Amino acid sequence: MTGKKIIALFGATGPTGRYLIEEALQRGYQLSVYTRDAKKLAAFAGRIDIVVGDLQDSRALAQCIRGADAVISALGPNALRVPGDKPVMHGLTRIIATMKQAGVRRLIQISTAAYRDPEDGFAFQPRAFALLFKLIARKGYEDIQATAKEVARSGLDWTLVRIPNLKDGPATSGVAVGWYGKTSLGTRLSRGNLASFLLDQVTDSQFVQAAPAIANA
Ligand SMILES: NC(=O)c1ccc[n+]([C@@H]2O[C@H](COP(=O)([O-])OP(=O)(O)OC[C@H]3O[C@@H](n4cnc5c(N)ncnc54)[C@H](OP(=O)(O)O)[C@@H]3O)[C@@H](O)[C@H]2O)c1
Repeated sequence: MTGKKIIALFGATGPTGRYLIEEALQRGYQLSVYTRDAKKLAAFAGRIDIVVGDLQDSRALAQCIRGADAVISALGPNALRVPGDKPVMHGLTRIIATMKQAGVRRLIQISTAAYRDPEDGFAFQPRAFALLFKLIARKGYEDIQATAKEVARSGLDWTLVRIPNLKDGPATSGVAVGWYGKTSLGTRLSRGNLASFLLDQVTDSQFVQAAPAIANA
């Protein structure tokens, strides 16, 4: 036992994952990182615990989540063509069930303007981007929307972090946070800023059971 807080991390094999892992290690967290392909996390071997499985593998999910203080998920469609029916939403259903069995309450999930929060006003730009995405990647749009709804009705201490277009880049002095149509939010977000905001949520309860939208300040 190290006494460090443990984060179970999903969807961390993509570009945001690299920022998340480095920043979390720098903040002193122990990481249990879930992947379908351990080779994608080879650069972090020895510094993180890697659990291999797909999102249907209940035993591997339990191994990753058991003992964690929080779960952060950057899971989301990473191609225009989504295989099968809402694979990320079905994965989250299993992650949520496993968290409940393991007594883990804090869940932080990336989302987009495809999910509308009751706090939102009308905002043309994020709505237009979401509808454009729906036009070119309908199954991905539906998966993001269904995933967010699943998280929001989980009864857990969830936060949906809604993001615009991502760009590689470090964390800067902060992000703008609020609700579409009510807060002035740009259309860009650096992956460093996203990683930093996601990790802040592990210990910050301000947005528990809320879906703030963020962008570069
Ligand atoms: N790029 C953007 O501008 C943008 C805009 C809005 C939202 N987002 C969302 O932001 C998050 C991070 O994006 P990113 O561009 O940094 O990384 P990314 O490459 O989109 O990361 C997606 C992650 O989800 C995993 N994943 C996707 N489908 C899966 C499935 N069926 N089963 C298991 N794992 C699955 C991928 O694992 P594998 O490596 O195994 O495929 C990867 O780890 C994603 O959720 C993305 O949808 C991105």
